[in-house]
Order: sequence, then structure tokens, then C-alpha cells
Amino acid sequence: MSQKYVLLGVNVDHAATLRQARYRDVERTCGSFVEPDPVFLALLAEQAGADGITAHLREDRRHLQERDAWRLRESIQTRLNLEMACTEAMVTFALELQPDSVCLVPENRREISTEGGLDVAAQVRRITEIVSRMSDAGICTSLFVDPDTAQIEAAASTRAPCVELHTGAFANAHPSRRREAELARLRRAAEHAKHLDLEINAGHGINFVNIADVLTIPHLHELNIGHSIFARAMLHGISEAVQTMKARMSKPC
Ligand code: PXP
Repeated sequence: MSQKYVLLGVNVDHAATLRQARYRDVERTCGSFVEPDPVFLALLAEQAGADGITAHLREDRRHLQERDAWRLRESIQTRLNLEMACTEAMVTFALELQPDSVCLVPENRREISTEGGLDVAAQVRRITEIVSRMSDAGICTSLFVDPDTAQIEAAASTRAPCVELHTGAFANAHPSRRREAELARLRRAAEHAKHLDLEINAGHGINFVNIADVLTIPHLHELNIGHSIFARAMLHGISEAVQTMKARMSKPC
């Protein structure tokens, strides 16, 4: 019987963040040399073993630009996972772009990165409608949720096939205090999601150290990891960073 491994989705937003720090107007510098290029890094990540590429097109376009999303769609060979807010503009964009999957996330202009999970329970109707429109277009939807029973049940009720468990509270918890409790919460949430027949991804704040604990969460399908891979890439290059993360994830599940 073949072994099953947790897949790695590499989030390339951080390359775009560095680019935008210098080239704010990159959409209009089309054709000029601007670096770093998140698309080139995505291709290198794929060659190093990434199973998919994740990119978040935020409403404020603070990192990824629409053109990046199109170039990713045209060039990557694995799967494109588009993180997006539940706005009509983003739904229209996703239906045109045709990523392999979308991950619905909350967006707050003041946050540095996605801070909390989506409040699915508060917007079941709207999210059910988006899930159905994506499904009709052959796009799989996952919902980025806190490891919370009510949110997971609400996610299942929208008929989304997948949830992405927010690992941020675990990753940011003090090791000797709340970390075990947060990990236990993630494990319980994963069991509950599995019971409801949801596919289970996880992401946010996963790094080269806490990955061992993250892999103790049962039933994981894919991890979406960005910041730690790009931080390591500054020292060792993107290929080494992706290969090392893949090696640390290569525990059969
Ligand atoms: N998954 C989701 C839904 C996210 O919003 C983010 C952050 O952009 C990630 C995964 C990746 O988080 P990190 O960059 O901390 O690895």
C-alpha cells in the first residue's frame, strides 16, 4: 500500500511583500525589471517539491497584484490555491482566474497578516452561495477557520469540501503555557472536521521548529506555509528551504 504524506502548499505572498516595499506601483511598471518576482520563486518552489502554490490577493493589494495571479495561473505546474475575502469582486475575479481551489479568509485592513479565522457561523448563507458558485465552476473551496467546533459545524453546513485550520494561536502561544492546550484544540477540531467528512488543511505561523508538533494533528491533507519558508530562503535559497520543509514533513500519515 502506498504511503500518504501531508502536502505542502507554498504561500508566495511574502515575496510580493518584499517587492512592494520598493516598487509600490508594480502594476504600472509592467515590462521593467522588478524583484523579487513571486512567480519565479513559485516555479523554483515547485521544482524543489512544493505540491501547490498559495497566493492571497488582498483587497488593498498590499502584496500580490492581479497580474501576479494571472501569471501564476499561466505558469505553475502544480495547483493554484487563491486566498480571498468573501467579496463579490473577489468571487468574480476567482471565477475568471479559475484557480484549482480558493480559501475564503477574513480581511481586516489593519492586520499584518490574516489574524483570525473566518466567522462562518455568522454568514452561512453568503458562504454557502460562494461555495456553490465555485463548485459549479469546478473550483474547490476551503474555509479558513479557528479550531472551534461551532465554526467547523457551520463550515460543513455550507457544503464546503474543506477547512483550513488556523494554527496561529498555537504558533504564537508561549511554549510552556498555552501551546499544549492550543495543539489539543487543533487535534480535537481535526477529529471533528473528519467526522463531518471535511478535508483538513492547516496554516499560519508554521515553521521549521513547530512543524513536528503540527504533524501530530490527525487527518491533515495539506499545510500552507509562507513566512518561515521565505525567511529561511533569505539565508539558504528557496530550493533549500522548500526541500528542508518537505523533509521535515516526510512522515507518513
Ligand atoms: N493560510 C492562510 C489562510 C493565510 O492567510 C496565511 C498567511 O497569509 C498562511 C496560510 C501562511 O501563513 P504563514 O505566512 O505564517 O506561513
